[in-house]
Amino acid sequence: MLTKWLKVSQYTVVLTGAGMSTESGLPDFRSAKAGLWSKKNPQQLASTFALKHNRDDFISFYQYRIRTLHECKPHLGHMILAKWQKRGIVQNIVTQNVDGFHKQAGSENVIELHGSLRTIHCQRCHQVYDSDLYIHEQFHCTCGGFLRPSVVLFGESLPTDAIEQAWSVAQKAELLIVLGSSLQVSPANQLPLLAKRNGSKFVIINMEPTELDEWADVVIHHRKIGDVLREIDEQLKVEE
Ligand code: APR
Repeated sequence: MLTKWLKVSQYTVVLTGAGMSTESGLPDFRSAKAGLWSKKNPQQLASTFALKHNRDDFISFYQYRIRTLHECKPHLGHMILAKWQKRGIVQNIVTQNVDGFHKQAGSENVIELHGSLRTIHCQRCHQVYDSDLYIHEQFHCTCGGFLRPSVVLFGESLPTDAIEQAWSVAQKAELLIVLGSSLQVSPANQLPLLAKRNGSKFVIINMEPTELDEWADVVIHHRKIGDVLREIDEQLKVEE
């Protein structure tokens, strides 16, 4: 069914979450066992509060995430999405992920709702640097300001241009597919319902149940995203 919808849809949007990158070796946040937030408190580590009042733990947390990011790379699933985008099977990728793997895999016009861990920027003068400075223990700008990761922290709003782009493509979608998200975080989790309200089909591929399963036309649980995408890609090739 999903293969047929992908072929018929004139405008397909893919919304990815952290589950898209676990097969690359990056932990997600809310998986029952391995999720980062099952062991750590996001408010103590990834929030405006932590940036201001818990600076040492904030820095260690993001050093860990930036280090693991540099040790991992996109997997086959990211490559398949990039290929489908080039072939016009998928029009847009909207991601909650900050790992930059969709771009590294060759996807273009990726809408990064929560920013990117590939860069850090000065809180004072906004100068942008490569995030590997954190691995080399460099936390201050030449102007003296503190360098923070260019990601959306809990307590911050999303970049307006990313929101506008994401809302615009979701309204045009004839098919919206969620890959690897618990859909617990707003406003990203509003996109599927916005698309559905505009007549889009809505598919969820996620290992565990999500907040929006009841609204989806098709739900695929207990399957790895990489395996499902590879199978669909094979079916698309066969039907060429
Ligand atoms: N295949 C399919 N599903 C998977 C896989 C996989 N290989 N690996 C993990 N999953 C599923 C998990 O079952 C989980 O439900 O992906 C989902 C990931 O959900 P979260 O960890 O909540 O990640 P996400 O939805 O992206 O979180 C949204 O929360 O902490 C913030 O800013 C952070 O962008 C993040 C936001």
